[in-house]
Amino acid sequence: MRYISSGHSHGEQITIILEGIPANLELNLDDINKELSRRQSGYGRGNRMKIERDQAQFVGGVLFGKTTGAPITIVIKNKDYKNWETITSPFNYKQDSYRPVKMPRAGHADLVGALKYNQRDMRTIIERSSARETVSRVAVGAVCKQILRELDIEVLSHVINLGGIDVSNYSLDDIRTMDSKVRMVHKVKTSEAMKRIDESKLEGDTLGGICEAFVLNVPAGLGSYVSHEQKLDANIAAHVLGIQSCKGVEFGDGFDIANYKGSEVHDEITYTEQTFKRKTNHYGGFEGGMTTGMPIIVRGVFKPIPTLMKPIGSVHIDTKEQVLSHVERADVTAIPAASVILEHTISIEITRAILAQFTSDTIEQLIDSVSRYRDYLKEF
Ligand SMILES: Cc1cc2nc3c(=O)[nH]c(=O)nc-3n(C[C@H](O)[C@H](O)[C@H](O)COP(=O)(O)O)c2cc1C
Repeated sequence: MRYISSGHSHGEQITIILEGIPANLELNLDDINKELSRRQSGYGRGNRMKIERDQAQFVGGVLFGKTTGAPITIVIKNKDYKNWETITSPFNYKQDSYRPVKMPRAGHADLVGALKYNQRDMRTIIERSSARETVSRVAVGAVCKQILRELDIEVLSHVINLGGIDVSNYSLDDIRTMDSKVRMVHKVKTSEAMKRIDESKLEGDTLGGICEAFVLNVPAGLGSYVSHEQKLDANIAAHVLGIQSCKGVEFGDGFDIANYKGSEVHDEITYTEQTFKRKTNHYGGFEGGMTTGMPIIVRGVFKPIPTLMKPIGSVHIDTKEQVLSHVERADVTAIPAASVILEHTISIEITRAILAQFTSDTIEQLIDSVSRYRDYLKEF
């Protein structure tokens, strides 16, 4: 399974081509659109998300509500394009009133992108480095989640730190049932985080945070130790780091493992109810790049949004004068959205590993071969 996306942040549309999805998967379009709207929501986002109402249009690879096995094409229109057409239309742009972007924002791709691609107007960089592209990951992840649902695999996510306000002591059910504008399971922490977002907005500043995802009921043995390319934890980490503004990934106890002895953190093996189990899950569901059968636990840390309404210093790329960096409409924080993107990115990587490992020309074959594999594990 693989996918590619194309399109600009304020261009006409984002187009995605997704290949390798089994035939006969009945797609629930409402659920896919609900996932897209989850990505758009969250306290602290800028006005752009009030304009967009993301809807996936399937224009290839799906007939009569089911996948055909052919590459799937998904289009997501940018409603904001009508306000940007004179700038981002590929050919019919207007030059007269347009002001090129010359003052790179620290923390964004502006300066290095301009150097690398020899651009004197960083609009060309902004249009593709923008996290608008994450809509493609959520659209693909939403299709993958429908495959995972057929295999009784559940993926959950939430926010455990927003601008230094952190949440601990929660259950999976708290995550399943949470009702929070910042995707935090505790009401008090939700209010504190929203207050911090309001304060940051007034200060012209931005906030980062940490998101956590769980994958439940995954069979042992997805991925492989035999080569680095097949290590599933490594593939998840790479793709999570590929989410704009992600600066670190950890599994299970993560970096805290450094503080313990082997005897304290290796997940002791037991055998009950005809199954190999672990007493603990310090390693977040992975050993040797393979799933252990315990819940997969992944966390990603996301830096504060680079665009600051109270900008910091920069240098004009032509005159080399010290200036203040470029300002444009932006989120104060996108951590709630990042948790939804994390959930979908992980869903993609788990699905990719499953499709590589099991017979999957059709969804029926896939369900059958995963179920037989689960039986085999029980009988081992
Ligand atoms: C959901 C989401 C929304 C984002 N919104 C903005 C934004 O409005 N303004 C901004 O400057 N950066 C935003 N970012 C972060 C930038 O896209 C990101 O920092 C930039 O592409 C540079 O990549 P890097 O941070 O991975 O180095 C957002 C990130 C995510 C995940």
